[in-house]
Amino acid sequence: MTVGIDKIGFFTSPYYIDMVDLATARNVDPNKYLIGIGQKLQAVIPETQDAVTLAANAADRILTSADKADIDMVIFGTETGVDNSKAAAIYVQDLLGISKRARAFEIKQACYGATAGIQMAYDHVLLHPESKVLVLASDIARYGLNTPGEVTQGGGAVAMLITANPRILALDGQSAFYSENIMDFWRPLYRKEAVVDGHYSTDVYIEFFKRTWKQYQDKTGRSLADFSALAFHLPFTKMGLKAIDAVVQGTASATKLLRQFDFSTQYNAVVGNLYTGSLYLSLLSLLSNSDSLKPGDRVGLFSYGSGAQGEFYSGTVAKNFDRQALKKPVDNLLDDRHKLSIPKYEKMYQAAMPITSGDITYDVTADQSRYVLRGRAADRLVYLDTGKSAENKAQ
Ligand code: COA
Repeated sequence: MTVGIDKIGFFTSPYYIDMVDLATARNVDPNKYLIGIGQKLQAVIPETQDAVTLAANAADRILTSADKADIDMVIFGTETGVDNSKAAAIYVQDLLGISKRARAFEIKQACYGATAGIQMAYDHVLLHPESKVLVLASDIARYGLNTPGEVTQGGGAVAMLITANPRILALDGQSAFYSENIMDFWRPLYRKEAVVDGHYSTDVYIEFFKRTWKQYQDKTGRSLADFSALAFHLPFTKMGLKAIDAVVQGTASATKLLRQFDFSTQYNAVVGNLYTGSLYLSLLSLLSNSDSLKPGDRVGLFSYGSGAQGEFYSGTVAKNFDRQALKKPVDNLLDDRHKLSIPKYEKMYQAAMPITSGDITYDVTADQSRYVLRGRAADRLVYLDTGKSAENKAQ
Protein backbone atom coordinates (compact mmCIF):
# COMPACT_ATOMS: atom_id res chain seq x y z
CA MET A 1 0.00 0.00 0.00
CA THR A 2 1.17 3.52 -0.76
CA VAL A 3 -0.06 6.70 0.96
CA GLY A 4 -0.01 10.22 -0.43
CA ILE A 5 -1.81 12.94 -2.36
CA ASP A 6 -4.86 11.59 -4.17
CA LYS A 7 -6.39 14.92 -5.23
CA ILE A 8 -5.21 18.55 -5.30
CA GLY A 9 -7.44 21.58 -5.80
CA PHE A 10 -6.39 25.20 -6.05
CA PHE A 11 -8.34 28.42 -5.63
CA THR A 12 -7.42 32.07 -5.72
CA SER A 13 -9.06 35.44 -6.17
CA PRO A 14 -10.48 36.44 -9.57
CA TYR A 15 -8.44 39.68 -9.35
CA TYR A 16 -4.77 40.33 -10.03
CA ILE A 17 -2.28 43.10 -10.73
CA ASP A 18 0.56 43.13 -13.22
CA MET A 19 4.04 43.54 -11.72
CA VAL A 20 4.99 45.97 -14.52
CA ASP A 21 2.10 48.25 -13.43
CA LEU A 22 3.17 47.94 -9.78
CA ALA A 23 6.81 48.71 -10.64
CA THR A 24 5.75 51.75 -12.67
CA ALA A 25 3.55 53.02 -9.82
CA ARG A 26 6.36 52.51 -7.30
CA ASN A 27 8.99 54.10 -9.57
CA VAL A 28 11.01 50.88 -9.80
CA ASP A 29 12.60 49.29 -12.89
CA PRO A 30 10.10 46.52 -13.89
CA ASN A 31 12.99 44.09 -14.40
CA LYS A 32 13.65 44.19 -10.67
CA TYR A 33 10.23 42.60 -10.11
CA LEU A 34 10.18 40.41 -13.25
CA ILE A 35 13.77 39.14 -13.10
CA GLY A 36 15.22 40.14 -9.72
CA ILE A 37 12.18 38.84 -7.77
CA GLY A 38 10.81 36.54 -10.47
CA GLN A 39 7.12 37.52 -10.25
CA LYS A 40 4.83 38.50 -13.16
CA LEU A 41 1.31 38.84 -11.71
CA GLN A 42 -0.07 38.97 -8.17
CA ALA A 43 -3.44 37.83 -6.83
CA VAL A 44 -5.41 40.53 -5.00
CA ILE A 45 -7.88 39.18 -2.44
CA PRO A 46 -11.24 41.00 -2.14
CA GLU A 47 -12.78 41.65 1.29
CA THR A 48 -15.39 38.95 0.55
CA GLN A 49 -12.70 36.21 0.73
CA ASP A 50 -10.60 35.14 3.71
CA ALA A 51 -8.54 32.07 4.62
CA VAL A 52 -11.73 30.07 5.30
CA THR A 53 -13.54 30.86 2.04
CA LEU A 54 -10.39 30.45 -0.07
CA ALA A 55 -9.89 26.98 1.45
CA ALA A 56 -13.57 26.05 1.13
CA ASN A 57 -13.54 27.07 -2.54
CA ALA A 58 -10.34 25.06 -3.15
CA ALA A 59 -11.76 21.96 -1.46
CA ASP A 60 -15.07 22.33 -3.32
CA ARG A 61 -13.15 21.88 -6.57
CA ILE A 62 -12.00 18.35 -5.68
CA LEU A 63 -14.38 16.72 -3.21
CA THR A 64 -17.23 14.38 -4.14
CA SER A 65 -20.09 13.59 -1.75
CA ALA A 66 -18.44 10.21 -1.10
CA ASP A 67 -15.19 11.98 -0.10
CA LYS A 68 -17.12 14.27 2.26
CA ALA A 69 -18.67 11.26 3.97
CA ASP A 70 -15.35 9.38 4.20
CA ILE A 71 -13.08 12.20 5.47
CA ASP A 72 -12.25 11.62 9.14
CA MET A 73 -9.74 14.43 9.62
CA VAL A 74 -9.63 18.05 8.39
CA ILE A 75 -6.29 19.77 8.98
CA PHE A 76 -6.08 23.49 8.21
CA GLY A 77 -2.59 24.95 7.81
CA THR A 78 -2.57 28.74 7.95
CA GLU A 79 -0.84 31.78 9.41
CA THR A 80 -3.77 34.05 8.53
CA GLY A 81 -6.35 32.28 10.69
CA VAL A 82 -9.67 34.04 11.28
CA ASP A 83 -9.89 33.59 15.06
CA ASN A 84 -7.40 33.39 17.92
CA SER A 85 -9.18 30.34 19.32
CA LYS A 86 -11.50 28.59 16.88
CA ALA A 87 -9.97 26.51 14.08
CA ALA A 88 -10.70 27.55 10.50
CA ALA A 89 -11.10 23.82 9.77
CA ILE A 90 -14.43 23.73 11.63
CA TYR A 91 -15.90 26.43 9.38
CA VAL A 92 -14.80 24.59 6.23
CA GLN A 93 -16.10 21.26 7.54
CA ASP A 94 -19.49 22.89 8.09
CA LEU A 95 -19.61 24.88 4.83
CA LEU A 96 -18.79 21.81 2.73
CA GLY A 97 -20.93 19.34 4.65
CA ILE A 98 -17.96 17.15 5.58
CA SER A 99 -18.73 14.34 8.02
CA LYS A 100 -19.00 15.50 11.64
CA ARG A 101 -17.28 12.27 12.68
CA ALA A 102 -13.98 13.92 11.88
CA ARG A 103 -11.21 15.61 13.78
CA ALA A 104 -10.99 19.22 12.59
CA PHE A 105 -8.21 21.54 13.71
CA GLU A 106 -5.70 24.19 12.67
CA ILE A 107 -1.90 24.10 12.53
CA LYS A 108 0.31 27.19 12.58
CA GLN A 109 4.01 27.47 11.91
CA ALA A 110 4.29 30.22 9.30
CA CYS A 111 4.55 28.72 5.78
CA TYR A 112 5.24 25.22 7.15
CA GLY A 113 1.78 24.46 8.64
CA ALA A 114 0.39 22.42 5.73
CA THR A 115 3.51 20.25 5.60
CA ALA A 116 3.00 19.32 9.26
CA GLY A 117 -0.59 18.50 8.26
CA ILE A 118 0.52 16.26 5.39
CA GLN A 119 2.96 14.37 7.60
CA MET A 120 0.27 13.86 10.25
CA ALA A 121 -2.19 12.74 7.56
CA TYR A 122 0.38 10.31 6.14
CA ASP A 123 0.89 8.63 9.53
CA HIS A 124 -2.87 8.52 10.15
CA VAL A 125 -3.70 6.86 6.81
CA LEU A 126 -0.84 4.40 7.22
CA LEU A 127 -2.49 3.25 10.48
CA HIS A 128 -6.05 3.51 9.12
CA PRO A 129 -5.93 2.77 5.38
CA GLU A 130 -9.67 3.36 4.87
CA SER A 131 -9.34 6.98 6.08
CA LYS A 132 -9.28 10.08 3.93
CA VAL A 133 -7.70 13.25 5.33
CA LEU A 134 -8.36 16.73 3.94
CA VAL A 135 -5.31 18.99 4.29
CA LEU A 136 -5.96 22.67 3.59
CA ALA A 137 -3.25 25.27 3.00
CA SER A 138 -4.76 28.75 2.90
CA ASP A 139 -3.31 32.22 3.42
CA ILE A 140 -3.34 35.85 2.36
CA ALA A 141 0.17 37.34 2.17
CA ARG A 142 0.19 41.01 3.15
CA TYR A 143 3.27 43.17 3.64
CA GLY A 144 1.77 46.64 3.15
CA LEU A 145 1.42 49.18 0.35
CA ASN A 146 4.69 50.81 -0.70
CA THR A 147 6.89 48.36 1.24
CA PRO A 148 9.78 46.24 -0.13
CA GLY A 149 7.65 43.15 0.54
CA GLU A 150 4.69 44.43 -1.53
CA VAL A 151 5.98 42.67 -4.65
CA THR A 152 5.89 39.35 -2.76
CA GLN A 153 2.20 39.52 -1.74
CA GLY A 154 -0.55 37.21 -3.03
CA GLY A 155 -3.02 34.71 -1.66
CA GLY A 156 -5.00 31.56 -2.26
CA ALA A 157 -5.52 28.03 -1.08
CA VAL A 158 -4.54 24.49 -1.95
CA ALA A 159 -6.70 21.58 -0.79
CA MET A 160 -5.27 18.06 -0.79
CA LEU A 161 -6.89 14.72 -0.11
CA ILE A 162 -4.48 12.25 1.50
CA THR A 163 -5.45 8.62 1.01
CA ALA A 164 -4.12 5.11 0.52
CA ASN A 165 -3.10 4.24 -3.06
CA PRO A 166 -3.12 7.89 -4.19
CA ARG A 167 -3.50 8.93 -7.81
CA ILE A 168 -1.08 11.90 -7.78
CA LEU A 169 1.94 11.53 -5.48
CA ALA A 170 2.87 8.55 -3.30
CA LEU A 171 4.97 9.77 -0.37
CA ASP A 172 8.19 7.92 0.46
CA GLY A 173 7.70 8.30 4.23
CA GLN A 174 11.24 9.59 4.56
CA SER A 175 11.97 13.14 5.55
CA ALA A 176 14.50 15.36 7.29
CA PHE A 177 13.58 18.35 9.42
CA TYR A 178 15.25 21.11 11.41
CA SER A 179 13.93 23.95 13.57
CA GLU A 180 15.55 26.88 15.34
CA ASN A 181 14.34 30.10 17.01
CA ILE A 182 14.94 32.75 14.32
CA MET A 183 13.32 36.18 13.87
CA ASP A 184 13.19 36.45 10.08
CA PHE A 185 9.43 36.93 9.59
CA TRP A 186 6.50 37.09 12.03
CA ARG A 187 3.19 38.83 12.59
CA PRO A 188 2.38 40.27 16.03
CA LEU A 189 -1.25 39.82 17.17
CA TYR A 190 -2.12 43.47 16.55
CA ARG A 191 -1.01 43.43 12.89
CA LYS A 192 -2.49 42.26 9.59
CA GLU A 193 0.86 42.80 7.83
CA ALA A 194 3.99 40.72 8.40
CA VAL A 195 7.18 42.04 10.00
CA VAL A 196 10.02 40.72 7.84
CA ASP A 197 13.76 40.88 7.35
CA GLY A 198 13.60 39.57 3.80
CA HIS A 199 17.32 39.32 3.06
CA TYR A 200 18.02 37.50 6.33
CA SER A 201 15.04 35.22 5.68
CA THR A 202 16.41 34.25 2.27
CA ASP A 203 19.79 33.37 3.82
CA VAL A 204 18.16 31.24 6.54
CA TYR A 205 15.92 29.51 3.98
CA ILE A 206 18.91 28.51 1.84
CA GLU A 207 20.79 27.36 4.95
CA PHE A 208 17.83 25.24 6.11
CA PHE A 209 17.49 23.73 2.63
CA LYS A 210 21.15 22.74 2.50
CA ARG A 211 20.96 21.34 6.04
CA THR A 212 17.78 19.26 5.56
CA TRP A 213 18.88 18.06 2.13
CA LYS A 214 22.15 16.80 3.69
CA GLN A 215 20.22 15.12 6.56
CA TYR A 216 17.88 13.50 4.02
CA GLN A 217 20.83 12.18 2.00
CA ASP A 218 22.45 10.78 5.15
CA LYS A 219 19.19 9.06 6.16
CA THR A 220 18.25 7.60 2.78
CA GLY A 221 21.48 7.24 0.84
CA ARG A 222 19.80 9.03 -2.08
CA SER A 223 21.53 11.69 -4.16
CA LEU A 224 20.43 14.32 -6.71
CA ALA A 225 20.60 11.61 -9.41
CA ASP A 226 17.63 9.87 -7.72
CA PHE A 227 15.39 12.91 -8.30
CA SER A 228 13.51 13.95 -11.44
CA ALA A 229 12.51 17.29 -9.89
CA LEU A 230 12.70 19.42 -6.75
CA ALA A 231 9.83 21.67 -5.66
CA PHE A 232 10.28 24.53 -3.18
CA HIS A 233 8.33 26.79 -0.89
CA LEU A 234 8.17 29.89 -3.11
CA PRO A 235 7.33 33.23 -1.42
CA PHE A 236 8.73 34.57 -4.71
CA THR A 237 10.25 32.39 -7.41
CA LYS A 238 13.76 33.87 -7.21
CA MET A 239 14.04 32.61 -3.60
CA GLY A 240 13.62 28.99 -4.73
CA LEU A 241 16.03 29.57 -7.62
CA LYS A 242 18.71 30.71 -5.18
CA ALA A 243 18.20 27.58 -3.04
CA ILE A 244 18.25 25.09 -5.92
CA ASP A 245 21.30 26.84 -7.43
CA ALA A 246 23.13 26.45 -4.10
CA VAL A 247 22.86 22.67 -4.33
CA VAL A 248 22.65 21.63 -8.00
CA GLN A 249 25.02 24.03 -9.80
CA GLY A 250 28.08 22.16 -11.07
CA THR A 251 26.48 18.71 -10.69
CA ALA A 252 25.49 16.30 -13.48
CA SER A 253 21.80 16.79 -12.50
CA ALA A 254 21.83 20.59 -12.87
CA THR A 255 20.32 20.89 -16.36
CA LYS A 256 17.50 18.42 -15.69
CA LEU A 257 16.58 19.79 -12.25
CA LEU A 258 16.74 23.46 -13.27
CA ARG A 259 14.51 22.75 -16.27
CA GLN A 260 11.92 21.06 -14.02
CA PHE A 261 12.27 23.92 -11.52
CA ASP A 262 11.06 26.30 -14.24
CA PHE A 263 7.85 24.27 -14.61
CA SER A 264 7.41 24.35 -10.83
CA THR A 265 7.41 28.17 -10.75
CA GLN A 266 4.91 28.89 -13.55
CA TYR A 267 1.76 29.16 -11.41
CA ASN A 268 3.55 30.83 -8.47
CA ALA A 269 4.90 33.56 -10.78
CA VAL A 270 1.35 34.57 -11.76
CA VAL A 271 -0.35 34.18 -8.37
CA GLY A 272 2.26 35.37 -5.87
CA ASN A 273 2.81 34.25 -2.31
CA LEU A 274 0.40 31.76 -0.74
CA TYR A 275 2.47 31.34 2.43
CA THR A 276 1.78 27.74 3.51
CA GLY A 277 0.19 26.84 0.17
CA SER A 278 3.19 28.03 -1.87
CA LEU A 279 5.06 24.72 -1.90
CA TYR A 280 1.90 22.89 -2.91
CA LEU A 281 1.04 25.38 -5.67
CA SER A 282 4.59 24.80 -6.90
CA LEU A 283 4.07 21.03 -6.82
CA LEU A 284 0.82 21.53 -8.74
CA SER A 285 2.64 23.74 -11.24
CA LEU A 286 5.35 21.12 -11.74
CA LEU A 287 2.93 18.22 -12.15
CA SER A 288 0.62 20.21 -14.46
CA ASN A 289 3.21 21.84 -16.68
CA SER A 290 6.22 19.52 -16.88
CA ASP A 291 6.32 17.81 -20.28
CA SER A 292 8.53 14.97 -19.10
CA LEU A 293 7.59 14.01 -15.53
CA LYS A 294 6.10 10.51 -15.55
CA PRO A 295 4.79 7.88 -13.15
CA GLY A 296 7.53 6.52 -10.91
CA ASP A 297 9.61 9.72 -11.06
CA ARG A 298 10.81 10.96 -7.66
CA VAL A 299 10.06 14.55 -6.60
CA GLY A 300 11.76 16.28 -3.62
CA LEU A 301 9.83 18.88 -1.62
CA PHE A 302 11.42 21.58 0.50
CA SER A 303 9.10 23.20 3.00
CA TYR A 304 10.09 26.27 5.01
CA GLY A 305 8.23 28.26 7.64
CA SER A 306 9.91 31.35 9.02
CA GLY A 307 10.64 31.42 12.67
CA ALA A 308 11.90 28.80 11.59
CA GLN A 309 11.13 25.22 10.54
CA GLY A 310 12.48 23.44 7.47
CA GLU A 311 11.69 19.99 6.10
CA PHE A 312 12.81 18.07 3.03
CA TYR A 313 10.77 15.05 2.00
CA SER A 314 9.94 13.14 -1.14
CA GLY A 315 7.42 11.15 -3.12
CA THR A 316 6.99 9.46 -6.48
CA VAL A 317 4.51 10.33 -9.20
CA ALA A 318 1.61 7.84 -8.95
CA LYS A 319 1.09 5.26 -11.64
CA ASN A 320 -2.37 6.51 -12.69
CA PHE A 321 -1.34 10.16 -12.73
CA ASP A 322 -3.39 12.19 -15.28
CA ARG A 323 -1.61 15.47 -16.05
CA GLN A 324 -4.38 17.08 -18.13
CA ALA A 325 -7.05 16.43 -15.49
CA LEU A 326 -4.91 18.34 -13.00
CA LYS A 327 -3.87 21.18 -15.30
CA LYS A 328 -7.09 22.20 -17.03
CA PRO A 329 -9.05 23.50 -14.02
CA VAL A 330 -6.06 25.52 -12.78
CA ASP A 331 -5.41 27.08 -16.19
CA ASN A 332 -9.10 27.93 -16.58
CA LEU A 333 -9.24 29.53 -13.12
CA LEU A 334 -6.16 31.65 -13.83
CA ASP A 335 -7.30 32.60 -17.35
CA ASP A 336 -10.68 33.83 -16.05
CA ARG A 337 -9.18 36.46 -13.73
CA HIS A 338 -9.60 40.24 -14.10
CA LYS A 339 -6.74 42.71 -14.05
CA LEU A 340 -6.98 45.62 -11.60
CA SER A 341 -5.40 49.05 -11.95
CA ILE A 342 -3.01 49.95 -9.12
CA PRO A 343 -5.47 52.48 -7.55
CA LYS A 344 -8.22 49.81 -7.58
CA TYR A 345 -5.85 47.26 -6.00
CA GLU A 346 -4.91 49.75 -3.27
CA LYS A 347 -8.58 50.34 -2.51
CA MET A 348 -9.31 46.59 -2.38
CA TYR A 349 -6.25 46.01 -0.21
CA GLN A 350 -7.39 48.64 2.29
CA ALA A 351 -10.95 47.24 2.40
CA ALA A 352 -9.84 44.01 4.14
CA MET A 353 -11.65 43.33 7.42
CA PRO A 354 -10.05 45.39 10.20
CA ILE A 355 -8.73 43.78 13.40
CA THR A 356 -10.86 46.19 15.46
CA SER A 357 -14.38 45.10 16.47
CA GLY A 358 -17.75 46.14 14.99
CA ASP A 359 -20.39 44.77 12.67
CA ILE A 360 -19.63 44.81 8.94
CA THR A 361 -21.70 43.78 5.92
CA TYR A 362 -19.99 43.29 2.58
CA ASP A 363 -21.66 43.49 -0.82
CA VAL A 364 -21.02 39.97 -2.13
CA THR A 365 -22.80 40.36 -5.46
CA ALA A 366 -19.57 40.92 -7.42
CA ASP A 367 -17.94 37.77 -6.00
CA GLN A 368 -18.69 34.79 -8.24
CA SER A 369 -17.17 32.24 -5.82
CA ARG A 370 -19.32 29.59 -4.22
CA TYR A 371 -18.21 30.45 -0.66
CA VAL A 372 -17.99 34.09 0.41
CA LEU A 373 -17.47 36.13 3.57
CA ARG A 374 -20.62 38.21 4.12
CA GLY A 375 -19.19 40.12 7.04
CA ARG A 376 -19.24 40.12 10.84
CA ALA A 377 -22.21 40.38 13.20
CA ALA A 378 -22.05 40.33 17.02
CA ASP A 379 -18.41 39.17 16.80
CA ARG A 380 -19.38 36.23 14.60
CA LEU A 381 -17.99 35.82 11.10
CA VAL A 382 -20.78 35.28 8.58
CA TYR A 383 -20.03 32.92 5.69
CA LEU A 384 -22.36 32.19 2.79
CA ASP A 385 -22.72 29.26 0.46
CA THR A 386 -24.01 31.00 -2.67
CA GLY A 387 -24.66 27.65 -4.35
CA LYS A 388 -22.65 28.71 -7.42
CA SER A 389 -20.91 25.63 -8.77
CA ALA A 390 -17.16 25.46 -9.26
CA GLU A 391 -16.72 24.98 -12.99
CA ASN A 392 -13.92 22.84 -14.30
CA LYS A 393 -13.68 20.71 -11.19
CA ALA A 394 -10.33 19.03 -10.75
CA GLN A 395 -10.06 15.25 -10.98
N1 COA B 1 16.94 44.25 -13.08
C1 COA B 1 17.09 42.98 -12.65
N2 COA B 1 17.28 42.64 -11.35
C2 COA B 1 17.28 43.64 -10.45
C3 COA B 1 17.10 44.99 -10.82
C4 COA B 1 16.93 45.28 -12.20
N3 COA B 1 16.75 46.52 -12.63
N4 COA B 1 17.16 45.76 -9.70
C5 COA B 1 17.35 44.91 -8.65
N5 COA B 1 17.44 43.63 -9.11
C6 COA B 1 17.61 42.41 -8.32
C7 COA B 1 18.62 42.53 -7.21
O1 COA B 1 19.93 42.38 -7.67
C8 COA B 1 18.18 41.40 -6.30
O2 COA B 1 18.62 40.17 -6.83
P1 COA B 1 19.51 39.19 -5.92
O3 COA B 1 18.65 38.88 -4.72
O4 COA B 1 19.75 38.02 -6.79
O5 COA B 1 20.73 39.95 -5.55
C9 COA B 1 16.65 41.41 -6.46
O6 COA B 1 16.39 42.13 -7.66
C10 COA B 1 15.92 42.07 -5.31
O7 COA B 1 16.51 43.30 -5.07
P2 COA B 1 16.70 43.85 -3.59
O8 COA B 1 17.37 45.16 -3.66
O9 COA B 1 17.33 42.79 -2.75
O10 COA B 1 15.18 44.01 -3.20
P3 COA B 1 14.54 44.61 -1.91
O11 COA B 1 15.54 44.99 -0.89
O12 COA B 1 13.60 45.65 -2.37
O13 COA B 1 13.67 43.39 -1.29
C11 COA B 1 12.89 41.22 -0.80
C12 COA B 1 13.45 42.14 -1.88
C13 COA B 1 12.58 39.87 -1.42
C14 COA B 1 13.89 41.04 0.33
C15 COA B 1 11.56 41.85 -0.24
O14 COA B 1 10.63 41.89 -1.27
C16 COA B 1 10.98 41.07 0.92
O15 COA B 1 11.40 41.22 2.06
N6 COA B 1 9.96 40.21 0.65
C17 COA B 1 9.41 39.32 1.66
C18 COA B 1 10.18 38.02 1.66
C19 COA B 1 9.65 37.09 2.71
O16 COA B 1 8.50 37.13 3.06
N7 COA B 1 10.46 36.22 3.27
C20 COA B 1 9.99 35.32 4.30
C21 COA B 1 9.16 34.25 3.76
S1 COA B 1 10.01 32.74 3.65
